[in-house]
Amino acid sequence: MAKKNRTKCVGILTSGGDCPGLNAGIRALGKMLLKYNISIVGILDGFTGLIENRYIHMGLNELTGLLTQGGTILGTSRNKPYKMPLEDGTYHDMTGAAIENYHRLGLDCLICLGGGGTQKNAYHLMNKADINIITIPKTIDNDVYGTDVSIGYDTGLTIGAEAIDRLHTTASSHHRIMLVDMMGHNAGWLSLSSGLAAGADIILIPEIEYDIEKVFDELLRRKEHDKRFSIVVVAEGSKMKKEKIDKKNKGNNKKKNKNNSDKVFFPHKVPESELLANRIEKKIGLETRVTSLGYLQRGGIPTPADRMLATHLGTRAGEAVLNGDYGVMTSFTKGKYVLIPLKDIAGRKKIVEMDDPLIKTARCLGICLGD
Ligand code: F6P
Repeated sequence: MAKKNRTKCVGILTSGGDCPGLNAGIRALGKMLLKYNISIVGILDGFTGLIENRYIHMGLNELTGLLTQGGTILGTSRNKPYKMPLEDGTYHDMTGAAIENYHRLGLDCLICLGGGGTQKNAYHLMNKADINIITIPKTIDNDVYGTDVSIGYDTGLTIGAEAIDRLHTTASSHHRIMLVDMMGHNAGWLSLSSGLAAGADIILIPEIEYDIEKVFDELLRRKEHDKRFSIVVVAEGSKMKKEKIDKKNKGNNKKKNKNNSDKVFFPHKVPESELLANRIEKKIGLETRVTSLGYLQRGGIPTPADRMLATHLGTRAGEAVLNGDYGVMTSFTKGKYVLIPLKDIAGRKKIVEMDDPLIKTARCLGICLGD
Protein backbone atom coordinates (compact mmCIF):
# COMPACT_ATOMS: atom_id res chain seq x y z
CA MET A 1 0.00 0.00 0.00
CA ALA A 2 1.27 3.49 -0.85
CA LYS A 3 2.69 5.34 2.13
CA LYS A 4 1.12 8.72 2.87
CA ASN A 5 2.82 11.28 0.69
CA ARG A 6 3.69 14.71 2.03
CA THR A 7 6.18 15.62 -0.66
CA LYS A 8 5.94 19.24 -1.80
CA CYS A 9 9.18 19.93 -3.58
CA VAL A 10 11.68 17.73 -5.44
CA GLY A 11 15.12 18.64 -6.79
CA ILE A 12 16.49 17.05 -9.96
CA LEU A 13 20.11 17.01 -11.09
CA THR A 14 22.16 15.29 -13.77
CA SER A 15 25.74 14.31 -12.97
CA GLY A 16 28.70 12.68 -14.75
CA GLY A 17 29.13 12.50 -18.54
CA ASP A 18 26.04 13.51 -20.49
CA CYS A 19 24.18 11.05 -22.71
CA PRO A 20 21.13 10.90 -24.98
CA GLY A 21 17.92 10.24 -23.04
CA LEU A 22 18.66 12.34 -19.96
CA ASN A 23 16.15 14.99 -21.02
CA ALA A 24 13.52 12.34 -21.72
CA GLY A 25 14.03 11.10 -18.14
CA ILE A 26 13.74 14.63 -16.69
CA ARG A 27 10.58 15.19 -18.74
CA ALA A 28 8.86 11.98 -17.62
CA LEU A 29 9.72 12.47 -13.96
CA GLY A 30 8.82 16.17 -14.08
CA LYS A 31 5.47 15.66 -15.78
CA MET A 32 4.49 13.04 -13.26
CA LEU A 33 5.47 15.17 -10.27
CA LEU A 34 3.57 18.18 -11.62
CA LYS A 35 0.52 15.97 -12.01
CA TYR A 36 0.64 15.43 -8.24
CA ASN A 37 1.19 19.16 -7.58
CA ILE A 38 4.77 18.63 -6.48
CA SER A 39 7.00 21.55 -7.41
CA ILE A 40 10.32 20.95 -9.12
CA VAL A 41 13.69 22.60 -8.75
CA GLY A 42 16.22 21.82 -11.49
CA ILE A 43 19.73 21.97 -9.98
CA LEU A 44 22.27 23.18 -12.55
CA ASP A 45 25.53 21.41 -13.45
CA GLY A 46 25.24 18.40 -11.19
CA PHE A 47 26.42 18.48 -7.58
CA THR A 48 28.35 21.69 -8.34
CA GLY A 49 25.03 23.55 -8.69
CA LEU A 50 23.79 22.11 -5.40
CA ILE A 51 26.92 23.32 -3.62
CA GLU A 52 26.78 26.74 -5.30
CA ASN A 53 22.98 27.04 -4.94
CA ARG A 54 22.37 27.43 -8.69
CA TYR A 55 18.98 26.20 -9.87
CA ILE A 56 15.86 26.90 -11.94
CA HIS A 57 12.19 26.34 -11.16
CA MET A 58 10.66 23.88 -13.60
CA GLY A 59 7.09 23.97 -14.83
CA LEU A 60 5.39 22.52 -17.90
CA ASN A 61 7.11 25.08 -20.15
CA GLU A 62 10.56 23.88 -19.12
CA LEU A 63 9.52 20.25 -19.64
CA THR A 64 8.18 20.69 -23.14
CA GLY A 65 10.08 19.51 -26.22
CA LEU A 66 12.58 17.41 -24.26
CA LEU A 67 11.73 13.87 -25.39
CA THR A 68 14.04 13.83 -28.39
CA GLN A 69 16.62 16.34 -27.22
CA GLY A 70 20.16 15.04 -26.55
CA GLY A 71 22.42 16.13 -23.68
CA THR A 72 20.91 17.55 -20.51
CA ILE A 73 19.08 20.87 -20.21
CA LEU A 74 20.27 21.07 -16.60
CA GLY A 75 23.95 20.85 -17.48
CA THR A 76 26.29 18.42 -15.77
CA SER A 77 29.69 18.05 -14.12
CA ARG A 78 31.80 15.27 -12.70
CA ASN A 79 32.35 17.01 -9.35
CA LYS A 80 31.75 15.17 -6.10
CA PRO A 81 30.41 17.07 -3.04
CA TYR A 82 33.09 15.54 -0.79
CA LYS A 83 35.93 16.38 -3.19
CA MET A 84 35.27 19.70 -4.89
CA PRO A 85 38.14 21.16 -6.91
CA LEU A 86 39.16 24.66 -5.82
CA GLU A 87 40.85 27.29 -7.99
CA ASP A 88 44.22 26.76 -6.29
CA GLY A 89 44.19 23.13 -7.48
CA THR A 90 43.30 21.63 -4.09
CA TYR A 91 40.12 19.73 -3.18
CA HIS A 92 37.67 20.50 -0.43
CA ASP A 93 34.84 18.59 1.22
CA MET A 94 31.71 20.65 0.45
CA THR A 95 29.15 18.11 1.64
CA GLY A 96 27.97 20.59 4.29
CA ALA A 97 27.14 23.23 1.65
CA ALA A 98 25.22 20.66 -0.42
CA ILE A 99 23.12 19.62 2.56
CA GLU A 100 22.53 23.22 3.62
CA ASN A 101 21.25 24.13 0.14
CA TYR A 102 19.03 21.04 0.01
CA HIS A 103 17.26 22.40 3.10
CA ARG A 104 17.39 26.05 1.96
CA LEU A 105 15.54 25.08 -1.24
CA GLY A 106 12.93 23.26 0.83
CA LEU A 107 13.55 19.94 -0.95
CA ASP A 108 11.81 16.82 0.29
CA CYS A 109 13.80 14.66 -2.07
CA LEU A 110 16.71 14.93 -4.52
CA ILE A 111 16.68 12.86 -7.70
CA CYS A 112 20.06 12.28 -9.33
CA LEU A 113 20.39 10.96 -12.87
CA GLY A 114 23.88 9.58 -13.25
CA GLY A 115 26.33 6.76 -13.78
CA GLY A 116 28.39 4.69 -11.35
CA GLY A 117 30.13 7.71 -9.80
CA THR A 118 26.80 9.42 -9.19
CA GLN A 119 25.39 6.40 -7.35
CA LYS A 120 28.39 6.55 -5.05
CA ASN A 121 28.18 10.31 -4.52
CA ALA A 122 24.44 10.15 -3.88
CA TYR A 123 24.90 7.38 -1.33
CA HIS A 124 27.68 9.31 0.39
CA LEU A 125 25.50 12.44 0.61
CA MET A 126 22.53 10.48 1.91
CA ASN A 127 24.65 8.96 4.67
CA LYS A 128 26.03 12.29 5.79
CA ALA A 129 22.64 13.79 6.59
CA ASP A 130 19.03 12.83 6.83
CA ILE A 131 18.16 13.66 3.22
CA ASN A 132 16.04 11.71 0.77
CA ILE A 133 17.66 10.58 -2.46
CA ILE A 134 16.52 8.54 -5.46
CA THR A 135 18.75 7.86 -8.45
CA ILE A 136 18.17 6.96 -12.10
CA PRO A 137 20.95 5.10 -14.00
CA LYS A 138 22.36 6.65 -17.15
CA THR A 139 25.56 6.09 -19.12
CA ILE A 140 26.40 5.00 -22.63
CA ASP A 141 28.95 2.64 -20.98
CA ASN A 142 26.15 0.51 -19.44
CA ASP A 143 28.38 -0.25 -16.46
CA VAL A 144 26.02 0.84 -13.67
CA TYR A 145 25.71 -2.01 -11.22
CA GLY A 146 22.19 -3.18 -10.32
CA THR A 147 20.46 -2.59 -13.65
CA ASP A 148 20.57 -4.57 -16.88
CA VAL A 149 20.50 -1.41 -18.93
CA SER A 150 21.11 2.30 -18.41
CA ILE A 151 19.74 5.34 -20.25
CA GLY A 152 22.03 6.21 -23.19
CA TYR A 153 23.39 2.73 -23.86
CA ASP A 154 21.08 1.92 -26.75
CA THR A 155 21.94 5.19 -28.50
CA GLY A 156 25.68 4.66 -27.94
CA LEU A 157 25.53 1.17 -29.41
CA THR A 158 23.39 2.35 -32.33
CA ILE A 159 25.93 5.06 -33.18
CA GLY A 160 28.74 2.50 -32.81
CA ALA A 161 27.01 0.02 -35.12
CA GLU A 162 26.26 2.69 -37.71
CA ALA A 163 29.90 3.80 -37.66
CA ILE A 164 31.03 0.21 -38.31
CA ASP A 165 28.49 -0.13 -41.14
CA ARG A 166 29.97 2.95 -42.78
CA LEU A 167 33.54 1.82 -42.23
CA HIS A 168 32.74 -1.54 -43.82
CA THR A 169 32.19 -0.06 -47.28
CA THR A 170 35.34 2.02 -47.31
CA ALA A 171 37.39 -0.79 -45.72
CA SER A 172 36.31 -3.24 -48.41
CA SER A 173 36.90 -0.76 -51.24
CA HIS A 174 40.47 -0.01 -50.11
CA HIS A 175 41.29 -3.46 -48.72
CA ARG A 176 42.26 -1.97 -45.39
CA ILE A 177 42.22 -2.90 -41.75
CA MET A 178 39.87 -0.50 -39.97
CA LEU A 179 40.27 -0.03 -36.24
CA VAL A 180 37.28 1.56 -34.52
CA ASP A 181 38.03 3.11 -31.17
CA MET A 182 34.92 3.13 -28.96
CA MET A 183 34.03 4.68 -25.62
CA GLY A 184 32.96 2.54 -22.70
CA HIS A 185 35.43 3.38 -19.92
CA ASN A 186 36.51 0.08 -18.31
CA ALA A 187 33.65 -2.03 -19.65
CA GLY A 188 33.22 -3.69 -23.04
CA TRP A 189 29.41 -3.45 -23.40
CA LEU A 190 29.37 -0.81 -26.11
CA SER A 191 32.14 -2.39 -28.17
CA LEU A 192 30.75 -5.92 -27.96
CA SER A 193 27.19 -4.97 -28.77
CA SER A 194 28.06 -2.55 -31.59
CA GLY A 195 30.59 -5.02 -32.98
CA LEU A 196 28.09 -7.88 -32.93
CA ALA A 197 25.32 -5.74 -34.42
CA ALA A 198 27.52 -4.60 -37.31
CA GLY A 199 29.63 -7.70 -37.96
CA ALA A 200 33.08 -6.75 -36.66
CA ASP A 201 35.80 -9.38 -37.18
CA ILE A 202 37.80 -8.71 -34.02
CA ILE A 203 36.50 -7.08 -30.81
CA LEU A 204 38.90 -6.12 -28.04
CA ILE A 205 37.42 -5.27 -24.64
CA PRO A 206 38.88 -4.31 -21.24
CA GLU A 207 37.67 -7.54 -19.63
CA ILE A 208 39.92 -9.68 -21.86
CA GLU A 209 43.60 -8.74 -22.12
CA TYR A 210 44.38 -9.35 -25.75
CA ASP A 211 47.28 -11.31 -27.16
CA ILE A 212 48.65 -9.25 -30.06
CA GLU A 213 49.89 -12.39 -31.83
CA LYS A 214 46.28 -13.68 -31.89
CA VAL A 215 45.20 -10.43 -33.53
CA PHE A 216 47.97 -10.72 -36.17
CA ASP A 217 47.05 -14.39 -36.78
CA GLU A 218 43.37 -13.57 -37.28
CA LEU A 219 44.10 -10.72 -39.70
CA LEU A 220 46.45 -12.95 -41.71
CA ARG A 221 43.98 -15.85 -41.62
CA ARG A 222 41.30 -13.61 -43.09
CA LYS A 223 43.68 -12.41 -45.77
CA GLU A 224 44.55 -16.00 -46.70
CA HIS A 225 40.83 -16.67 -47.07
CA ASP A 226 40.54 -13.79 -49.56
CA LYS A 227 38.95 -11.44 -47.05
CA ARG A 228 40.74 -8.34 -48.13
CA PHE A 229 39.66 -6.13 -45.25
CA SER A 230 38.94 -6.45 -41.55
CA ILE A 231 37.06 -4.46 -38.94
CA VAL A 232 38.59 -4.38 -35.47
CA VAL A 233 36.68 -2.75 -32.60
CA VAL A 234 38.99 -1.52 -29.86
CA ALA A 235 37.26 -0.56 -26.62
CA GLU A 236 38.66 2.47 -24.84
CA GLY A 237 39.91 0.48 -21.84
CA SER A 238 41.33 -2.55 -23.66
CA LYS A 239 44.82 -3.67 -22.79
CA MET A 240 47.41 -5.84 -24.45
CA LYS A 241 48.75 -8.88 -22.61
CA LYS A 242 52.41 -8.51 -21.70
CA GLU A 243 54.50 -9.98 -24.49
CA LYS A 244 57.16 -12.60 -23.90
CA ILE A 245 60.47 -10.81 -24.21
CA ASP A 246 63.20 -12.43 -26.20
CA LYS A 247 66.20 -12.20 -23.85
CA LYS A 248 68.71 -11.60 -26.65
CA ASN A 249 66.73 -8.70 -28.09
CA LYS A 250 66.02 -7.31 -24.63
CA GLY A 251 69.75 -6.57 -24.28
CA ASN A 252 69.81 -4.82 -27.66
CA ASN A 253 66.76 -2.75 -26.80
CA LYS A 254 68.33 -1.65 -23.55
CA LYS A 255 71.40 -0.46 -25.40
CA LYS A 256 69.27 1.35 -27.98
CA ASN A 257 67.16 3.04 -25.34
CA LYS A 258 70.26 4.18 -23.48
CA ASN A 259 71.32 6.41 -26.32
CA ASN A 260 67.68 7.46 -26.96
CA SER A 261 67.97 6.69 -30.67
CA ASP A 262 64.40 5.32 -31.00
CA LYS A 263 62.63 7.07 -28.13
CA VAL A 264 59.43 8.89 -28.97
CA PHE A 265 57.87 11.20 -26.41
CA PHE A 266 54.10 11.65 -26.41
CA PRO A 267 52.59 14.53 -24.44
CA HIS A 268 49.39 12.50 -23.83
CA LYS A 269 48.64 8.84 -23.34
CA VAL A 270 48.49 7.21 -26.78
CA PRO A 271 45.18 5.38 -27.31
CA GLU A 272 45.41 1.60 -27.48
CA SER A 273 43.91 1.70 -30.99
CA GLU A 274 46.79 3.88 -32.28
CA LEU A 275 49.41 1.64 -30.70
CA LEU A 276 47.78 -1.44 -32.17
CA ALA A 277 47.45 0.09 -35.66
CA ASN A 278 51.12 0.91 -35.61
CA ARG A 279 52.06 -2.64 -34.61
CA ILE A 280 49.80 -4.17 -37.29
CA GLU A 281 51.36 -2.13 -40.08
CA LYS A 282 54.90 -2.84 -38.86
CA LYS A 283 54.44 -6.53 -38.22
CA ILE A 284 52.18 -7.74 -41.03
CA GLY A 285 52.30 -4.82 -43.43
CA LEU A 286 48.55 -4.45 -43.93
CA GLU A 287 47.36 -0.91 -44.50
CA THR A 288 45.59 0.16 -41.32
CA ARG A 289 43.47 3.17 -40.34
CA VAL A 290 42.00 4.24 -37.01
CA THR A 291 38.64 5.94 -36.49
CA SER A 292 37.96 7.20 -33.01
CA LEU A 293 34.26 7.79 -32.33
CA GLY A 294 34.97 9.78 -29.17
CA TYR A 295 32.20 12.11 -28.05
CA LEU A 296 30.15 11.49 -31.19
CA GLN A 297 29.08 8.29 -29.46
CA ARG A 298 27.20 10.14 -26.73
CA GLY A 299 25.91 13.12 -28.69
CA GLY A 300 22.64 13.82 -30.47
CA ILE A 301 19.11 12.51 -30.21
CA PRO A 302 18.24 9.39 -28.19
CA THR A 303 16.95 6.27 -29.95
CA PRO A 304 13.28 5.37 -29.36
CA ALA A 305 14.46 2.55 -27.02
CA ASP A 306 16.34 5.08 -24.88
CA ARG A 307 13.38 7.45 -24.85
CA MET A 308 11.17 4.60 -23.65
CA LEU A 309 13.66 3.46 -21.00
CA ALA A 310 14.09 7.03 -19.73
CA THR A 311 10.32 7.49 -19.64
CA HIS A 312 9.81 4.27 -17.67
CA LEU A 313 12.67 4.92 -15.24
CA GLY A 314 11.63 8.56 -14.80
CA THR A 315 8.06 7.64 -13.91
CA ARG A 316 9.24 4.80 -11.63
CA ALA A 317 11.29 7.43 -9.77
CA GLY A 318 8.13 9.57 -9.60
CA GLU A 319 6.29 6.62 -8.05
CA ALA A 320 9.10 6.12 -5.54
CA VAL A 321 8.70 9.78 -4.51
CA LEU A 322 4.95 9.31 -4.01
CA ASN A 323 5.53 6.15 -1.99
CA GLY A 324 8.34 7.65 0.08
CA ASP A 325 10.77 4.98 -1.12
CA TYR A 326 14.12 6.71 -0.69
CA GLY A 327 17.74 5.61 -0.85
CA VAL A 328 17.07 3.60 -4.00
CA MET A 329 17.94 3.50 -7.71
CA THR A 330 15.28 2.76 -10.33
CA SER A 331 16.40 -0.22 -12.38
CA PHE A 332 15.39 -2.44 -15.27
CA THR A 333 16.37 -5.95 -14.28
CA LYS A 334 15.31 -9.29 -15.76
CA GLY A 335 12.45 -7.66 -17.66
CA LYS A 336 11.05 -5.75 -14.69
CA TYR A 337 11.25 -2.21 -13.34
CA VAL A 338 12.43 -2.45 -9.75
CA LEU A 339 13.98 -0.32 -6.99
CA ILE A 340 17.46 -1.32 -5.80
CA PRO A 341 18.87 -0.01 -2.49
CA LEU A 342 21.75 2.41 -3.10
CA LYS A 343 23.81 0.65 -0.46
CA ASP A 344 23.94 -2.42 -2.74
CA ILE A 345 25.14 -0.39 -5.71
CA ALA A 346 27.46 2.35 -4.47
CA GLY A 347 31.09 1.79 -5.46
CA ARG A 348 30.38 -1.23 -7.68
CA LYS A 349 30.69 -1.57 -11.45
CA LYS A 350 29.00 -3.93 -13.88
CA ILE A 351 31.54 -5.35 -16.28
CA VAL A 352 31.08 -8.02 -18.97
CA GLU A 353 31.31 -11.45 -17.36
CA MET A 354 32.81 -14.28 -19.40
CA ASP A 355 29.50 -16.18 -19.40
CA ASP A 356 27.54 -13.19 -20.75
CA PRO A 357 25.47 -14.00 -23.86
CA LEU A 358 27.38 -11.30 -25.78
CA ILE A 359 30.64 -13.21 -25.26
CA LYS A 360 29.03 -16.57 -25.98
CA THR A 361 27.44 -15.34 -29.20
CA ALA A 362 30.64 -13.63 -30.36
CA ARG A 363 32.56 -16.87 -29.81
CA CYS A 364 29.88 -18.92 -31.60
CA LEU A 365 30.32 -16.67 -34.63
CA GLY A 366 34.10 -17.05 -34.55
CA ILE A 367 34.70 -13.38 -33.75
CA CYS A 368 38.22 -13.00 -32.38
CA LEU A 369 38.23 -11.53 -28.86
CA GLY A 370 42.01 -11.44 -28.71
CA ASP A 371 42.42 -14.46 -26.41
O1 F6P B 1 30.99 7.64 -19.05
C1 F6P B 1 30.79 7.99 -20.35
C2 F6P B 1 32.09 8.31 -21.01
O2 F6P B 1 31.77 8.80 -22.28
C3 F6P B 1 33.09 7.17 -21.08
O3 F6P B 1 32.81 6.25 -22.10
C4 F6P B 1 34.39 7.89 -21.25
O4 F6P B 1 35.44 7.12 -20.71
C5 F6P B 1 34.18 9.13 -20.44
O5 F6P B 1 32.78 9.31 -20.32
C6 F6P B 1 34.77 10.40 -21.01
O6 F6P B 1 34.70 11.36 -20.00
P1 F6P B 1 34.78 12.93 -20.13
O7 F6P B 1 33.46 13.43 -20.62
O8 F6P B 1 35.02 13.39 -18.74
O9 F6P B 1 35.89 13.23 -21.07
